[in-house]
Amino acid sequence: MIAQANSQPSSFEVRVLRQEAPGEPSRWERHQVTYEPNLNVISVLQKIATQATTSAGKSTSPVAWDCNCLEEVCGACTMLVNGQTRQACSALVDKLLAETPDGIELRPMSKFPVVRDLVVDRGRMFRALERVHAWIPVDGYGDRGPGPRESQAGQEFRYPLSECMTCGCCVEACPQFSKVELTQHLDETDEQFEQRQAQAYDQSFVGAAAISQTMLFNEHPTGHMNAGERLEALMGPGGLQICGNAQNCVAVCPKEIPLTTSIAKAGRQTTGYAFKRLFDR
Ligand code: SF4
Ligand code: SF4
Ligand code: FES
Repeated sequence: MIAQANSQPSSFEVRVLRQEAPGEPSRWERHQVTYEPNLNVISVLQKIATQATTSAGKSTSPVAWDCNCLEEVCGACTMLVNGQTRQACSALVDKLLAETPDGIELRPMSKFPVVRDLVVDRGRMFRALERVHAWIPVDGYGDRGPGPRESQAGQEFRYPLSECMTCGCCVEACPQFSKVELTQHLDETDEQFEQRQAQAYDQSFVGAAAISQTMLFNEHPTGHMNAGERLEALMGPGGLQICGNAQNCVAVCPKEIPLTTSIAKAGRQTTGYAFKRLFDR
């Protein structure tokens, strides 16, 4: 980094861990970026794309990254910024350089397959939502009159859980959520590979976000009608019993979702449901 008289740098270094395609080896690439006030990491990546050369002057392809809302709502831009899982759109360069003046390091999340550079496939998280039936089934769109009354306390419990953006920060930090990365066999069709991958995901830990979404829908007066099938899923392979209660998840959630409260509630609900199932036999 080159310092200016007013103590702001004239430029700063950005180290990006790059990977051409799924399963390929990764490599570090260094870029020198001209400083401007109020940059975020997305605008840094845009500058790098425009420069198209490394700090050694070698021409290079633009770094691939994902983004959508640019206001920390969609979760698409989640990556490791200086080792911390967070959204690139809300990671401000001035703050980052104040913490680490030697530059900024960008890596893809480690618990998901890398698609290219900083883009990962978070499909496993959506698969986990399918596993726990994180929705309310509807059997028609006709007017069926008002639904059940909602209590203020119920709404206040559910609202923060509804803010989950499936970003992946909680599972990236979770020691129980391990990487599942399969390689497509030469004689395997895309459909067969996807099926094998879905089976592997279905055996692995669903993670804190899916557990919390289970509670969101179980606590909804209409969703409560299907609570049993969600709890069955949480009691199955890769369910709640895998959680070691290390609480890393709650510490890193950018939406400050009370994940450990959800996990504790899920524990109470599955215990109650297991007893009920035993005596209903
Ligand atoms: S619970 Fe929080 S950290 Fe986890 S996916 Fe949802 S928003 Fe992201
Ligand atoms: S509390 Fe459970 S879900 Fe959260 S980080 Fe720990 S093991 Fe993972
Ligand atoms: S682009 Fe949507 S959270 Fe960053």
